[in-house]
Amino acid sequence: MEKKVRLIKMLLMMLICGSAWISAESTADIDSYRRLMLENGLGATPPMGWNSWNHFFCNIDETTIMETADALVSTGLAELGYKYVNIDDCWAEQERDSEGYLVPNKKTFPSGIKALADYIHSKGLKLGIYSDAGFQTCSNKMPGSLGYEQKDAETFASWGIDYLKYDNCNNNYSEPTKRYPPMSQALIKTGRPIFFSLCEWGEMHPAFWGAKLGNSWRTTTDISDTWDSMISRADQNEAYANFAGPGGWNDPDMLEVGNGGMTHKQYIVHFSLWAISKAPLLIGCDVRDLSNNTYKILGNKEVIDVNQDPLGIQAKKVKKDGDLEVWAGPLSKSRTVVLLLNRSVIRSTISAYWADLGVPADTSMEVRDLWKHKTYDKGFKNQLKFTMEGRSCRMFILTPMS
Ligand code: GLA
Repeated sequence: MEKKVRLIKMLLMMLICGSAWISAESTADIDSYRRLMLENGLGATPPMGWNSWNHFFCNIDETTIMETADALVSTGLAELGYKYVNIDDCWAEQERDSEGYLVPNKKTFPSGIKALADYIHSKGLKLGIYSDAGFQTCSNKMPGSLGYEQKDAETFASWGIDYLKYDNCNNNYSEPTKRYPPMSQALIKTGRPIFFSLCEWGEMHPAFWGAKLGNSWRTTTDISDTWDSMISRADQNEAYANFAGPGGWNDPDMLEVGNGGMTHKQYIVHFSLWAISKAPLLIGCDVRDLSNNTYKILGNKEVIDVNQDPLGIQAKKVKKDGDLEVWAGPLSKSRTVVLLLNRSVIRSTISAYWADLGVPADTSMEVRDLWKHKTYDKGFKNQLKFTMEGRSCRMFILTPMS
């Protein structure tokens, strides 16, 4: 009976979110929705941190991971919320030991993962690791956890792991809805809160079932460091906006900001879209070697605050006129975040009308520009209208002036 009531509440909540903004006052609905999620207490806001894959691929070792942790602290990024230091594929020996345990690669992680976790924790950070719901991981360089879920979960917990990314390669062709639950349950059974990130690439629409198993779920295949790759992942991820919320997030893949394949303005678009989409903010560049421009993007506290807003509602594309788009979503304290996105290559003007945003037309709004760090003092009425260069965006928070 209780289950039925929860289900009805969840459906109601989806209807509300689909048709109009949910107000800050409706957080009670979110709380009931949240009870259907994985109860490990993690992911109240999207996770923030770093992951080795987008920059280093398989070329990782314990020194790089430790230096990255040091850099997160010394640059101030850790203080801004980037707490997870996540090791991706290729950290283990090709074979398990004679008792079936995973073995850290003896050449690249000679001190072992427990020692690394101790180091990371001593810096006030958290350590993430990677495995796969198959026989081998995607690199084919180490075993996956299929059939070894409990053993591996216990190993991770005993090492002090805080986050597990769980990939989808080299499996037995059974459905992910069969292969992901055993690891989800095994992690819970360890008693250690471990953020569970489902990396199923969106194949079987994990947004529909992921919240019961994990704290985030990939909605797309792998990102690469190009405009087309980035923007198409934002689009695919947007389709699932109604399924994200505190405890479980849509994941359009990790950030490429700072890896060199896009212009500064394009990286601003990338970071802005990820922030408003309540995506995990997992830095994918070498933070030991950050340029000022990269730092200005990844370290923009105002944009990070949008991502970490306690309401946890993913913004949506609310208007599209060819390559000119408006994305928007509600924030706590009756505020609205708006992104004017010029996807074309030419300078263009974009208007967002209050009607597009679900705001009464005569509301006078204070407008804060999150990239120029500037507040427009005169109240805006009925619309926002700005001209911007090709492949760039403007990002604002609107606050009603009472
Ligand atoms: C898959 C994942 C990537 C990365 C690689 C590692 O492609 O989607 O994010 O983890 O595997 O091999």
